[in-house]
Amino acid sequence: MTNGSFPKHSWIKNIFSLPVDTTVTASGWAKTRRDAKGFSFIELNDGSCRTNLQVIVEQEVVQKLGFDLKQITPGTSVRVKGILRASPGKGQKVELLAQEILILGPCPSESYPIQKKNTSDEYLRTVAHLRPRTNKYGAMLRIRSALAFAIHKFFQENDFCYVHTPIITGSDCEGAGQMFQVTTLDLNNPPRQKGKNDIDYSKDFFARRTHLTVSGQLEGEALASSLGRIYTFGPTFRSENSNTPRHAAEFWMIEPEMAFYELEDNMDLAEAFVKSIITQVQERCAEDLALFAKFVDPTLEATLSNITQNEFARISYTEAVDILTQAYQQKKDLFSVAPYWGLDFGAEHEKFIVEQHFKRPTIIYNYPKEIKAFYMKLNDDQKTVRGMDLLVPRIGELIGGSERETRLPVLEARMKEIGIEAQDYQWYLDLRRFGSVPHSGFGLGFERAMMLVTGISNIRDVTAFPRTPGSADF
Ligand code: 4AD
Ligand code: MG
Repeated sequence: MTNGSFPKHSWIKNIFSLPVDTTVTASGWAKTRRDAKGFSFIELNDGSCRTNLQVIVEQEVVQKLGFDLKQITPGTSVRVKGILRASPGKGQKVELLAQEILILGPCPSESYPIQKKNTSDEYLRTVAHLRPRTNKYGAMLRIRSALAFAIHKFFQENDFCYVHTPIITGSDCEGAGQMFQVTTLDLNNPPRQKGKNDIDYSKDFFARRTHLTVSGQLEGEALASSLGRIYTFGPTFRSENSNTPRHAAEFWMIEPEMAFYELEDNMDLAEAFVKSIITQVQERCAEDLALFAKFVDPTLEATLSNITQNEFARISYTEAVDILTQAYQQKKDLFSVAPYWGLDFGAEHEKFIVEQHFKRPTIIYNYPKEIKAFYMKLNDDQKTVRGMDLLVPRIGELIGGSERETRLPVLEARMKEIGIEAQDYQWYLDLRRFGSVPHSGFGLGFERAMMLVTGISNIRDVTAFPRTPGSADF
């Protein structure tokens, strides 16, 4: 490894490709220790890869240590200097014959929270600070890193400009009112408007009411209206009180926004993007993905190749309603909510379309305007908007996006209809006043993509420290 001026630690991942007889120093946490006649084995992991380095400690070394090797229990951090030799075992080429061992931090086994006997996901969430020590969560976090990199790589290689949109904002992009308020006012004694009971936000830190962003899209549109093609990759916050395995209060979203893109172009980009990031992670994380295919979701490989190998289905919302209605007429217990034109599909409807009907990723477009956000371009039928959702097996909605309304009067009328204060969005309307262009974009939920790639079924388990209703520990 070339590493400039920083210290040359021997990452275990790199040790595996060194030749035998090399002297190395490895540091990590003991996974297990086994004592046999004449020597002991320590399985050492430093987080750089899933495979542990097998350390062999011969009896004579044990005698020179000055401590009892039994002190090295699971979780103990140690540094081992030794010499590599060919491993007789299957799987890895080398093992480390120890010459010196140093305990960096002991780990009392009675109280160590990571125990073989309790590895349920629910339990591990309560010890989120230690769960990355387990094979599964270590692998998850390495895949998360690789997936983030893959996303950047895709956009960078396609000449998108990475932009940073504000986290504290005055606008509600989705208009759904699911925002966390940001304030420095004294909640026990807030300033009131003269003669009224309403809070006087002109006295607040920003001299107005502000929230954590639910989406960087509106600001993204401004930047795409000058830079052409941009993407954001940042934290997003929603206070929707839906305690589901697919919703988090804090999640990361990737939002590309493209000038001169119409709905079709947007769909093409979304499809190419999803295929690319999955392929990149498959190429880079084979070892970690194998863990999920083996222990978490046996259909994982098939699910992922289904996505990368097949063309996505594309249907209008109206066609989707027809498919659902026909199926429902044949089997009334198929859905708890009967499908009709205008329905905001639930998970059961989306699942049916993707998993039963098309059996591959499906893009649904041209939704009724009533169930979509104000910024989507109105179709000539005056009833539907150029929105699109990408649905994938197991997850449901992975991407939501649209072509944007670029006609000033149409947008103003739409805002009025919904009851959005045009006054607060003058800067956004300016984009339609000055050199308005057709443009489109979408948002990919990063944690949903992680669930897809790993087969993990709960959003709480694809992020190190999840934030969900009633839970913000750590
Ligand atoms: O469909 P959404 O709400 O779309 C937007 O926010 C648009 N402004 C995006 C755009 O056009 N630039 O959210 C986009 C995606 C969803 O498809 C989903 O994957 C994810 O964000 N998402 C969530 N992920 C986890 N927890 C939540 N509470 C989520 N809400 C949305
Ligand atoms: Mg959506």
